[in-house]
Amino acid sequence: MRVAVAALLALVAVDAGATGRLDAYIAELESADRGAWQQPEKVIATLHLRRGMVIADIGAGTGYFARRFAGAIGPKGRVIALDVDGDMLEELRRRALDAKNVDTRTVAPDDPALAPRSVDLVFVCNTGHHLPDRVRYYGKLRRALRPGGRLVLIDFYKRTLPLGPPVAEKVSRAQTLREAGAAGFRLRASHAFLPYQYFLELE
Ligand SMILES: C[S@@+](CC[C@H](N)C(=O)[O-])C[C@H]1O[C@@H](n2cnc3c(N)ncnc32)[C@H](O)[C@@H]1O
Repeated sequence: MRVAVAALLALVAVDAGATGRLDAYIAELESADRGAWQQPEKVIATLHLRRGMVIADIGAGTGYFARRFAGAIGPKGRVIALDVDGDMLEELRRRALDAKNVDTRTVAPDDPALAPRSVDLVFVCNTGHHLPDRVRYYGKLRRALRPGGRLVLIDFYKRTLPLGPPVAEKVSRAQTLREAGAAGFRLRASHAFLPYQYFLELE
């Protein structure tokens, strides 16, 4: 009996720890301070989104960008918000209750499982370092793009910054360009207004 109670308490403690970690992660992604450095409105204005577009947001998290895309592309557009973490997507759905043009999909770490030629823009923000075998992954993203489609990569510069993952885990701008190039992408535009992140548009 004592063993069973101890096991139950341990399980509850692990669960509470996981919940606490998720809450902290969500709070970080949605922090009020983030707007100052992430500048989502300026990022979105830079992308010149069209109404009716289909956007895939890879590693959408809480939907910090996906929710804003949903407004920018209008009711005939579609945001496909992909994440490996179903709890994150649940949080996204909770925050995007009014957005009828957002689909959420839980995906495997190595496969966005997007249909060929189905998407106008693939957006990956602060998620590149999580992706396994990025060249292969970017190849899959390339096949999902419609003719004229774009891949947008935003990620932290590989240097010491007040936020983001540890330097060792960051993927540099140069490496990202090399990997995307190996998958067949070429740089279309590079935007330098974000203080902590590179912002690349590839085609
Ligand atoms: C740092 S958060 C960024 C969230 C969002 N893009 C943003 O900018 O607020 C990284 C997200 O990527 C997700 N993720 C990690 N590995 C992934 C993978 N292989 N495929 C898709 N999503 C992944 C995580 O669950 C997490 O929600």
